[in-house]
Amino acid sequence: MTAAQTDAAGRLRHLLTLDGLPRAALDALLDRAQALAADARGGTARRHVLAGKAVCTLFFEPSTRTRSSFALAAQRLGADLLAFDASTASTTKGEADLDTLKTLEAMGVHAFVVRHKRDGAVAELAAAAAPGTALVNAGDGRSNHPTQGLLDMLTLRQAKGADFAPLKVAIVGDVRHSRVARSDLHALRALGCGEIRVCGPAALLPDDGILGGCTVTHDLDAALEGVDAVMMLRLQRERMAEGLVDSLEDYHRDYGLTAARLRRAAPDAIVMHPGPMNRGVEISDAVADGPQSRVLAQVANGVAVRMAVLEALLG
Ligand code: NCD
Repeated sequence: MTAAQTDAAGRLRHLLTLDGLPRAALDALLDRAQALAADARGGTARRHVLAGKAVCTLFFEPSTRTRSSFALAAQRLGADLLAFDASTASTTKGEADLDTLKTLEAMGVHAFVVRHKRDGAVAELAAAAAPGTALVNAGDGRSNHPTQGLLDMLTLRQAKGADFAPLKVAIVGDVRHSRVARSDLHALRALGCGEIRVCGPAALLPDDGILGGCTVTHDLDAALEGVDAVMMLRLQRERMAEGLVDSLEDYHRDYGLTAARLRRAAPDAIVMHPGPMNRGVEISDAVADGPQSRVLAQVANGVAVRMAVLEALLG
């Protein structure tokens, strides 16, 4: 069983996916994140809206930026933070995970930020949580990473304005295994993005219908022509073992974003990457650190977006 993320009145109870989230809800979260951005970055005014609330980051998979930025977000809103690293737990069975959640819930945790390697695992935990407990999906399998989708939209909005209708956006790389790409696709569609191009080797593109309405190509040069934003994805190197990629050199030659290639995009195009980056594989140093890169802006926006989400759920 999975949980509904909104209650009968349409209020957000959990944030599990951007799929089906109404545009008004997306815009409200993005507006609030934009307003909180200054606090999120500088931490100037510590807010107290979540004083007395406890937030637990419960990660069954490793993470650098997502976990740290949720931790900062919770603390900047005045919540107590409990960081629980479940990635070393001896079992990944649903029953044990639920016991962990129930145990921490009994201690008085109000919100769980959960990352899990299994698709649907966070929604299942949400369905089993007590009525007042909120769950935030911090990435499940290859399915959803809603706060990454939101922070990517905030970064796009800051660079290109709130009207996505004229925008051409390319999503490049290992789309098949990417929960980031899926959340970005849901959000770009909901916000009315004019053209979404998806590019990668055939073996790394999804075949589950998620690309409906996108322009799909295996030719990176064609995908980049005139785009306003390029979203690069991590080549999940573990896929090489599965034989889906021949070699890192071949991948870089065909799908690596270099400064020369980027010149095909609009002159003011921005480059995004959710991290962690494989420099020299999907993205060159010159692009990652270049003037069009918004990679660190994405990271900064992550704190603001996560503040907005925690506030919406618990405030
Ligand atoms: C991504 C993730 O874990 O889904 N990283 C992130 O949260 N910023 C992307 C990835 O691992 O490739």
